Amino acid sequence: MIVAAFSTKPYDREFLERAAHDTGIEWRWFESRLDADTVRLAEGATAVNCFVNDDLGSDVLERLHTSGVRLVTLRCAGFNQVDLPTAARLGLPVVRVPEYSPHAVAEHAMGLVLMLDRKLHKAYNRVREGNFSLDGLLGFDLHGRTVGVVGTGKIGRCFAEIALGFGCRVLAHDPRPDAALAARGVAFVPLADLLAASDIVSLHCPLMPATHHLIDATNIARMKPGVMLVNTSRGGLVDTRAVIAALKTGRIGTLGLDVYEEEADLFFEDKSNTIIGDDVFSRLLTFPNVVVTAHQAFFTRNALEAIAAQTVRNLVYFERGEPLEAVVSA
Ligand code: NAI
Repeated sequence: MIVAAFSTKPYDREFLERAAHDTGIEWRWFESRLDADTVRLAEGATAVNCFVNDDLGSDVLERLHTSGVRLVTLRCAGFNQVDLPTAARLGLPVVRVPEYSPHAVAEHAMGLVLMLDRKLHKAYNRVREGNFSLDGLLGFDLHGRTVGVVGTGKIGRCFAEIALGFGCRVLAHDPRPDAALAARGVAFVPLADLLAASDIVSLHCPLMPATHHLIDATNIARMKPGVMLVNTSRGGLVDTRAVIAALKTGRIGTLGLDVYEEEADLFFEDKSNTIIGDDVFSRLLTFPNVVVTAHQAFFTRNALEAIAAQTVRNLVYFERGEPLEAVVSA
């Protein structure tokens, strides 16, 4: 079976090739993102393999289907980039990797918390330049702080457990509260209450129409002054302009982002020799109390192995006509 794999980097190829070594899968590797201009590259393929910023909107799906593609495999958990009603109408199954390593993302989120709290990003540079002053590096103990976890699915649950391990008081908001977490002392509360009481808010819910700009000016006004906000979920959960306004007034004290709503034209590429045209993003980078990582929370060896294994399993099942795993439905 020929599989056209988009947005692939050398590390993707390495792990997928290893997982598929004796399956007969023939990869067509493309570094470019899948979109209306690149969709023709999938001609001749039975399946496509895509990532978070590939465009799987209705037009692209129609054209994939016309060119003979019969399966869409995602190398990620989120599927907000797929027009699921169109996929369903075309009879095009979409499979994802729902759980490759929730620990990878949760641990990265806590890494951002520690970095912002203890200003490790500044300390690292300072010491290398022979500046051993502690001025401006004052942090707070995480022990005893209130951490708000928005979304306690696989990743949010791990994050809540890590926060409990630090001795934090953990509040959570999820339409489907997790009884096991509640039994461990996590209090499930309405979002407004979580925002009002938390010193740190970490987002772990999916991006859907209902959660688009969940953190907007109204919800920011509900947060504690000086709150730390961390988003490792999807950029669209946060209204970046509202967050910038709140950083300027100090309402948001520190911000850690692994995702950004307009990241598709930036992340995963080396742009160090180009002028960044996105003024909103550039403004974010000017704040000393903002740390941005480029959608790397998932990026551990364990996660890449699990993504490749699940993807290849589904491709093999599809070829054999066996039931697929982790099918996403509209
Ligand atoms: P999951 O599906 O296991 O959990 C999501 C949770 O959010 C569910 O418990 C759901 O009930 C809850 N939820 C839905 N609507 C909500 C709302 N309005 N408010 C609060 N909670 C709500 O998903 P998982 O695996 O925990 O992933 C969470 C998100 O993390 C994904 O949707 C994906 O966008 C993002 N992600 C980011 C990665 C990165 O590298 N930065 C890697 C993997 C996932």
